[in-house]
Amino acid sequence: SVSAQADPRLWPGVSDRRLGWIAATFGTPTYVLDENVVREQCRRFRDALPGARVAFASKALSCKAVVRWVLEEGLSLDVCSAGELAVARAVGFPAERVLLHGNAKTPEDLKAAQAYGVGRIVVDSLHEIDLLTDQRVLLRVMPGIAADTHPSLATGVDGQKFGLSASEVEEAVRRIDARPDLTLEGLHCHVGSQIRHVATFEQAARRMVALIARLGRSIRELDLGGGFAVPYTSAEPDFDLTGYADRVTRAIRYECARHRVPVPELIIEPGRAIVARAGVTLYRVTSVKHPFVAVDGGMSDNARPALYQARYQPRLLRIGPTAPMTLVGRHCEAGDVLAADVPLPRDVHPGDVVAVPVTGAYHHSLASNYNQVGRPALVGVRDGLTRVLVRAETEEDLLRRDVG
Ligand code: LLP
Repeated sequence: SVSAQADPRLWPGVSDRRLGWIAATFGTPTYVLDENVVREQCRRFRDALPGARVAFASKALSCKAVVRWVLEEGLSLDVCSAGELAVARAVGFPAERVLLHGNAKTPEDLKAAQAYGVGRIVVDSLHEIDLLTDQRVLLRVMPGIAADTHPSLATGVDGQKFGLSASEVEEAVRRIDARPDLTLEGLHCHVGSQIRHVATFEQAARRMVALIARLGRSIRELDLGGGFAVPYTSAEPDFDLTGYADRVTRAIRYECARHRVPVPELIIEPGRAIVARAGVTLYRVTSVKHPFVAVDGGMSDNARPALYQARYQPRLLRIGPTAPMTLVGRHCEAGDVLAADVPLPRDVHPGDVVAVPVTGAYHHSLASNYNQVGRPALVGVRDGLTRVLVRAETEEDLLRRDVG
């Protein structure tokens, strides 16, 4: 077969010619990020849920440019460390619109967040309440929902580390209410990531409203977290965001009426869905040993296949009759496989540029220096403009920290 045209659901609007030019100009591996796609996704969420507050989960891709775009599009920001907060601070993100998360916030995280005056801290343990002063908070609860995703990404099921159990929530509310300087603004849950079914979120929404009713006190905000799935291959469907907006807001209204509690303001925290499809990773082929096609990156710039058995649909930037190949990385592990059994041109050879789509979320932010490999540059594209957003890491960068 001849390699198929790029599936428009997986690729941003950057032409192959442009991608080839970027590989030649900036080197490989390089992460390419289409600013237009990031902005469009921000608007899609705001338009689908006009009554909700949309906070970008910056763990998906934390850098100044992206956080600035998100700010300009009117979103709020979810940070989960002093480091992610430092990026928000660097672009002057309004503190009121920042939420701090974390199941194990360090004293430094809390100090930085309180000094900046973040709008919400999402409390994840009873102990954390004692560490806060003058703060509006949300309480993260464990909704007890087994989400349809990889076990490592299921954060709403009972018996994992995030959130308070149902009994702890009531104790937490008592302790917060006893503190005049703390205000409980709402409840939070995050059922997991790469969740494909709207029904999972609907169920979470119902459970959370039932919990609000049980608490018997006014709860103004309900944060249902992120987790909106994106397709990584042509075989996977798009997430039904319109269906989410419709069914989740309806479930909240219905349950609130049934329990006779006021309808809370909805907050959501999409990360992946904002940035994933905006990103393409460019590699150069370094060796071919059928069926293995090896490239100059791998698990250090894309940890997801090794961590979650994630699948990708790579392409060469040229067409030709294909055969099934296995795209592997440069790292010293047999598990450093980027994509097994994918169609690539039979005559693929060293020097060819391979492009892997849907790599905007949890790639740059999850990269490592394994094998003393520098992390790739992040190159932004917008209309006719191309510019480096985060430069590639050099050997000098790596050695600078090594002071032994
Ligand atoms: N809110 C909270 C509290 C979270 O923990 C997360 C993600 C999000 C929002 C955003 O979820 P998203 O909309 O991006 O699914 N490294 C994994 C994903 C880990 C997600 C961690 N928490 C991956 O590459 O699939």
